[in-house]
Amino acid sequence: MIDTKKLNTTADAMRSRVSIRRYTDAPVPQEDVLEAIELAGNAPSAFNLQPWRFHVVRDSETKSRLQAAAMNQAQVGAAPVLLVLTSDMEDVMANLEDVLHPGLPEEKRVGTKGYLESMFGGLTVQQRAEWGRNQTNIALGYLLVALESMGYGSSPMLGFDADAVRAVLGLPQHVEIVALVSIGHPAEEGFPKHRHPVETILRAA
Ligand SMILES: Cc1cc2nc3c(=O)[nH]c(=O)nc-3n(C[C@H](O)[C@H](O)[C@H](O)COP(=O)(O)O)c2cc1C
Repeated sequence: MIDTKKLNTTADAMRSRVSIRRYTDAPVPQEDVLEAIELAGNAPSAFNLQPWRFHVVRDSETKSRLQAAAMNQAQVGAAPVLLVLTSDMEDVMANLEDVLHPGLPEEKRVGTKGYLESMFGGLTVQQRAEWGRNQTNIALGYLLVALESMGYGSSPMLGFDADAVRAVLGLPQHVEIVALVSIGHPAEEGFPKHRHPVETILRAA
């Protein structure tokens, strides 16, 4: 259940979120996972192609195989829920008709479809996968903030062998593994937050 005492504003959640790698035994209901996925799916993407896909792993055996594929990082096996965030641009291209905004007028729809087929048709599968990864990272940011606002701790991870993760989940080669995200109720504070001040990251326009 969502801890309503921890519900906070988007700004609060962005400021308070840190990586949490240890979790209590408290369950993470599927409805909360689906809500977090729905919130993450609100992310914008170029041409609104929404290439992100979310794989929810709860099974202990699968989590321990994924832990082995992820540099044996303990949070993978320890979390009640592990999300594997992927991008599937081949699925997007095969279903463009359904992917495009239903409100597009017919002429614009045909034009956009033709443009995208020509543009992405000129790329390799690997280049399309890279493009999809960039879009999916936007959804990753949304997901992490959403989980924080719901009172969950999470740990995003890039430390994994993508081929090994695909093998565990039975995913085809073209599916890009964007991140693993372990999720649970926090059993630690996490490292103290360190972020550069605005004057460090600001550049003159
Ligand atoms: C895309 C991405 C990949 C990351 N990969 C790992 C990882 O494999 N293992 C890990 O322990 N932390 C990983 N982190 C966590 C970062 O180290 C962490 O976000 C950063 O140090 C800032 O700390 P904070 O999240 O606690 O604010 C990753 C973070 C991001 C955004």
